[in-house]
Amino acid sequence: MPQQSNLGGSFNFPGSSLRVNRMGYGAMQLAGKDGNKLVWGPPRDMNEAVAVLQEAVASGVNHIDTSDFYGPHVTNRIIRKALSPYPRDLVIVTKVGAGRGEDGSWNEALSPDELTAAVHSNLNNLGLDVLDVVNLRVMFERFRPAEGSIEEMVTVLAELREQGLIRHVGLSNVTAAQIAEARRIVPIVCVQNEYNLAHRTDEALIDDLAADGIAFVPYFPLGGFTPLQSKVLSDVAARMEATSMQVALAWLLHRSPNILVIPGTTSRAHLRDNLNAASIQLLAPVLAELDAVASQSAATPDAPHG
Ligand SMILES: NC(=O)c1ccc[n+]([C@@H]2O[C@H](COP(=O)([O-])OP(=O)(O)OC[C@H]3O[C@@H](n4cnc5c(N)ncnc54)[C@H](OP(=O)(O)O)[C@@H]3O)[C@@H](O)[C@H]2O)c1
Repeated sequence: MPQQSNLGGSFNFPGSSLRVNRMGYGAMQLAGKDGNKLVWGPPRDMNEAVAVLQEAVASGVNHIDTSDFYGPHVTNRIIRKALSPYPRDLVIVTKVGAGRGEDGSWNEALSPDELTAAVHSNLNNLGLDVLDVVNLRVMFERFRPAEGSIEEMVTVLAELREQGLIRHVGLSNVTAAQIAEARRIVPIVCVQNEYNLAHRTDEALIDDLAADGIAFVPYFPLGGFTPLQSKVLSDVAARMEATSMQVALAWLLHRSPNILVIPGTTSRAHLRDNLNAASIQLLAPVLAELDAVASQSAATPDAPHG
């Protein structure tokens, strides 16, 4: 599989030797579904799941986002099956802070013991001795950032970093105040909040993080469980002979150089479309046109966030 010539350029996680292509891959939806339980159990097609991961990496993707609470355990085990022994340049970013109930629910798991156990569980299921980046997924509210001190949780991750189990710490579902609080405890290399063409709460935060060289990694870049739909988007895509999803990804790559994209897909055909989106050039008038998507979109309905 030829390496893609353009995966959006590269980005250096601050204060580290970790350099990734800006077009990455999000592995959450590789796990299966069991009735109403989303991201639960084995994939519908294990061979395709493995093939998607292998083709992504063969095409030059070197940033994969995951968590041990996807499946639970399933996504990490598929990553290990598909990619271990891992290429030297592959950066696997995982997250801790949530746990899954037997009914498929997503629950807070932010105590020191739960965070420590989650780091070990990620290490075991990925088959690693050290995790490149661990995001603390704050769960004060599940679907949006909510204020509150995260000092105790960040301190736990900082200690696990001191012990050599984690190289770098990131944050997810957080406010600017929580990022500032965390940065007083440990360097923060990335922030993962919901953001896409239609959901733009973090406009100012993205620019502030860019100024400090910190990556912003939007989750649900394509709308997640409710894929982006907009007439403006589909009209622009048709004119550009691209798909709406490709334009949505290209827009994110144009938005700011500190944005790393992690679109998820269970199919190699969609993977190829997504990687090709990195080559799409959006000129200023088109970018201005796409701004209308946010104002025309209804608020994203609450869907499971992981
Ligand atoms: N920190 C957090 O709280 C949090 C929350 C949610 C997600 N995440 C991370 O963010 C990553 C991305 O989120 P996500 O995968 O849920 O949502 P997403 O990337 O916004 O969208 C994935 C959905 O889009 C479809 N899709 C992908 N490429 C497509 C294409 N080219 N054409 C048409 N449909 C396409 C997929 O279906 P197909 O499988 O059919 O392609 C899937 O249904 C996850 O993998 C996870 O790692 C983090």
